[in-house]
Amino acid sequence: TRVLVLNGPNLGRLGVREPEIYGSASMADLRRSGAAWGEALDLEVEVRQTDDESELVGWLHEAVDARAHVVLNPAAFTHYSYAVRDAAAQVTTSGLLLVEVHLSNPATRESFRHHSVVGAVATGTVAGFGFDSYRLALEAVAARLAA
Ligand code: DQA
Repeated sequence: TRVLVLNGPNLGRLGVREPEIYGSASMADLRRSGAAWGEALDLEVEVRQTDDESELVGWLHEAVDARAHVVLNPAAFTHYSYAVRDAAAQVTTSGLLLVEVHLSNPATRESFRHHSVVGAVATGTVAGFGFDSYRLALEAVAARLAA
């Protein structure tokens, strides 16, 4: 079972960017961890990152066409991109799982982060556990597929 782990803008700066909020591990570390977690859960995990909204929308379309489940950290797009939301909605309405993830817990931060336009079309959301948010999201996908 394929799972695309898709990451939005500025997440390529992980490890360098505000490490007190986002931790010291990098996107390369997430790629390695994602592959290892996937192996343990019997999921074929591919981690990608882009700063580009249209590329992220295209990857969500690709997930629908390839029948791949999605773990999505939309980063700042979370809060305002109806294009990402509409693309994410196509994943869940086609019967695939989409777990929204955040490293930080946006509810504890600036008020503009309190609303997610993606949340309402996600299967569920994991936030606030740093890198473990991704692991927990993959475990949720594996658990739902096994149920
Ligand atoms: C984030 C939270 C967003 O508010 C922020 O814009 C990000 C990262 C997180 O993983 O905690 O870029 O999605």
